[in-house]
Amino acid sequence: MSVHKEVKRITTHVLQAMKARGEKIAMLTAYDYSMARILDEAGTDILLVGDSASNVMAGHETTLPITLDQMIYHAASVVRAVKRALVVVDLPFGSYQGNSKVALESTIRIMKEAGAHAVKLEGGEEISESVKRILSAGVPVMGHLGLTPQSIYKFGTYTVRAKEEAEADKLLSDARLLQELGCFAVVLEKIPAKLTRKVAEDLLIPTIGIGAGHYADGQVLVTQDMLGITKDFQPRFLRRYLELYELIQGATEQYIEDVKSLSFPNEKEEY
Ligand code: KIV
Repeated sequence: MSVHKEVKRITTHVLQAMKARGEKIAMLTAYDYSMARILDEAGTDILLVGDSASNVMAGHETTLPITLDQMIYHAASVVRAVKRALVVVDLPFGSYQGNSKVALESTIRIMKEAGAHAVKLEGGEEISESVKRILSAGVPVMGHLGLTPQSIYKFGTYTVRAKEEAEADKLLSDARLLQELGCFAVVLEKIPAKLTRKVAEDLLIPTIGIGAGHYADGQVLVTQDMLGITKDFQPRFLRRYLELYELIQGATEQYIEDVKSLSFPNEKEEY
């Protein structure tokens, strides 16, 4: 008899049921095997292989430079670590905006080469053909509205979106459209909490907020921000659960001192 408990995987249906019973959804980003394993074992419901890897992992200023091949590399590493969480992968800039055929081809590569469970695309009505085509191939799609970082050069800043009525109305109608098309959830990034409440109450599918307040059905943060590794990024919405930058720096300084003073390795640490 096995002593190991069966792990019940998170599916899109599980997430739907969580919203229906009012249980909040916890989502974090992951880009590599070691971190994904910790986040999954801790019980994170969704792991997002976000194109924020472009900033956090590669040091780019925006999310635009990351390629489909690089996203697949990150996603495959995360999938190998995960036993429970739903793994959602961002379609990177340039891999879906062209037309719906390109969007489906990119999605198929992510599903086949990384073993992902779902994809995420930024935008509403303007990407509806791509969303429809991906869904018709049987791949779950997560939407992303509000601040959409792949359009940073159109918006010009990373400030709060949809504060004006016209933009808020467009966001609500885009969210309804994504639900109608068959998306299983939608990320709402950096919008007023009152608008999040309206969208969350209007939709049957879960809304996952980042800088969108407490009315969302779930929350997502970039893991390196939440752990205090990216110390210069300090938006109001971010709660830091650790100050890892200082802790890692301190440990590294100690290691360097030990090597230089001949205290590492000692007799017990050699063969
Ligand atoms: O790429 C990312 O990390 C994201 C989240 C901020 C939602 O899209």
